[in-house]
Amino acid sequence: MSRTPLIAGNWKMFKTGPEAVATAERLTDLTRDTQDVDIMIAPTFLSLPLVSERTRRGTVKTGAQNLFHEREGAYTGEVSAEMIRAAGADYVIVGHSERRLLFNETDQSINLKVKAALNAGLAPVLCVGESETEKDEKKTFSVLDKQVRNGLKGFRSEQLGSLVLAYEPVWAIGTGKTATPDQVNEVHRYIRALMEKLFDKTLANAVRILYGGSVKPENVSELMALEDVDGALVGGASLDADKFVRIINFKTER
Ligand code: PGA
Repeated sequence: MSRTPLIAGNWKMFKTGPEAVATAERLTDLTRDTQDVDIMIAPTFLSLPLVSERTRRGTVKTGAQNLFHEREGAYTGEVSAEMIRAAGADYVIVGHSERRLLFNETDQSINLKVKAALNAGLAPVLCVGESETEKDEKKTFSVLDKQVRNGLKGFRSEQLGSLVLAYEPVWAIGTGKTATPDQVNEVHRYIRALMEKLFDKTLANAVRILYGGSVKPENVSELMALEDVDGALVGGASLDADKFVRIINFKTER
């Protein structure tokens, strides 16, 4: 089964509106002729409508970095899936480890967010990954099992057609440490097998599983060559359009 690779940039809390637009426009120019790779950037909520508008005619799609699961209401400071969709986004990152760790997100709140995203027609990019301690205690697979199982609780396979999973070992995010290709493929294979166990073979074969954690032009082709790696979720190296495009063009990057 051939899955179209997805290269996604998570801009985190970087870039003002004008900075985000400038980077997005440069990226749009650089990727005008890109084929066979889906591209997504996730700016801050503030920049999302502007960036979506400026990238509309190109190959770059946009996403949000988070959402709140209610449609609307008295939830000061929150943004709903419908509002994100109306801002022009196609994707939303859900359950990033920074949100789990710094903002107390749980598998239960993440499950509600996945539901809200799908209801609004957004493709959720559900992030999972173990911490350094959990890795050292050999708990990687049990942690991933719990995060995937609980994050996707209550869905049927037919509802998850747009779902994207992202394996991001917490110890590899922003640290310059990447998991070895063998470690990455073993985990991705485990997640795909788990999706088959929880849902069915069709979904397991179709779902894209991205790798995230210190992905850069220098290591992307090795990672993308792995059978069960279908893309990358890129933080730091996505902030510069010229650098990010080298990741998008992973087929020619050595
Ligand atoms: P990084 O971040 O590429 O800077 O390690 C990845 C992420 O947090 O999604």
